[in-house]
Amino acid sequence: MMPQTKRDDAPATVEPKPRMLGGVGAGAVRRLLVTPADVAETLTLMPPAADDPIRRHPLPERLIVAIDGPAGTGKSSTARTLAKRLGVEFLDTGAMYRAAAALVLDAGIDPADPVAVVERVRRAGLRFDWTTDPPTLLADGRSIMHRLRDADVTALVSPLAGLAELRALMVELQKDIGRAHPRLVTEGRDQGSVVFPDADLKIYLFAEARVRAARRAEQLRQAGLEADELALEQEILQRDRSDSSRRVGPLTCPQDAVRFDTSLLTFDQVVDRLEALVRKAAARGAARPAGH
Ligand code: DC
Repeated sequence: MMPQTKRDDAPATVEPKPRMLGGVGAGAVRRLLVTPADVAETLTLMPPAADDPIRRHPLPERLIVAIDGPAGTGKSSTARTLAKRLGVEFLDTGAMYRAAAALVLDAGIDPADPVAVVERVRRAGLRFDWTTDPPTLLADGRSIMHRLRDADVTALVSPLAGLAELRALMVELQKDIGRAHPRLVTEGRDQGSVVFPDADLKIYLFAEARVRAARRAEQLRQAGLEADELALEQEILQRDRSDSSRRVGPLTCPQDAVRFDTSLLTFDQVVDRLEALVRKAAARGAARPAGH
């Protein structure tokens, strides 16, 4: 069963504590202000209509929205669709780790040799072509998109992403992307915690493992494949444990993130609510120096 049938007025789970994003410390960083009321309202509100002044309100010059969370929450599609609705760039950091895995495999490099891994990835000059939708990830100047979902890449990427040296390189590349594209929806595991600790808005997207397994099973069935939901749920729980217990860049929910439970929401409902959250904060003219 797909968990696609939630009433519009049913609440998602959110962290109840007040949060003022960017409200810690003084400085030149300008952040959106998201109040608990915004978050509570966002659970039921739809994005502003086309003629609503909130929608016409320009977004700030710098708008980094960091979306993190475990596998199977639809983070990537959510981030991509949200970016499109907001008219900003979309960064898929999982694709970068997947590209690293493909490069290592295709060059026959020992994945346990951090020096060789980093050297190969650095030499490939990973970069995105932002003119396509989604942006095309280029390695050695050529698209590497066709390799990203291959089984060998998927099997290697999680252990490879545990290499501290590779993570350091990725963090550097992603920070560069953030500087070049300051209006960005980025998604991964460490975007709000490590790469963009000063993100304007941090979202932690999650869903019950049972629900994520059901969604994955549905995708497999739609692709004409068999799916064992219990086995999928066990795999997901195992992946959660390994992502969260990793020594470097573990999956965590940043303290100042909005925790957003998608278990009972459809895809469109999730994007609608996130769009409403961003637009409301932006319309309040809430981009203000941190600490004010
Ligand atoms: O989101 P995904 O399944 O495409 O991510 C691929 C792998 O990369 C997954 O094992 C988690 C890892 N990853 C990470 O460690 N840090 C990120 N910022 C993004 C992905």
